[in-house]
Amino acid sequence: MLPQNLQVNIPEIDIEHDHLFAFLESFKEYCFDRSPIPEEKRSALYGLLVSHFKTEERLAISAGVDFSGHEDAHEKMLETVSQALSQMASNNGDLYSLIRYIGYWFEIHILRYDLTLAKCLTISIVH
Ligand SMILES: [Fe+2]
Ligand SMILES: [Fe+2]
Repeated sequence: MLPQNLQVNIPEIDIEHDHLFAFLESFKEYCFDRSPIPEEKRSALYGLLVSHFKTEERLAISAGVDFSGHEDAHEKMLETVSQALSQMASNNGDLYSLIRYIGYWFEIHILRYDLTLAKCLTISIVH
């Protein structure tokens, strides 16, 4: 369960954030004694990020919220993760740094972008 300050009070988003953080934890354990990380595991992590970002985009568009800056932030993050994952194909030495990066990125991103999106979504539901 995410700490209170990272909850945005839009259930669909909060559930996915919870799921993502839980996945990162299990990914860390899974990778502990496996090198290289199987392709399907790397794809699962990447796919989860893509799918979450699509959820936020869909919610924003359906509420008529401008999503361009937020979308840029998602795309830059995906680019970084994608590069790191492909370099890890033969060696997962940097895996823990990547997992820490993703966790840290999400904390900052939720506070800076997702909470703002949630406020706009809540306003659009009320009106
Ligand atoms: Fe998010
Ligand atoms: Fe986001």
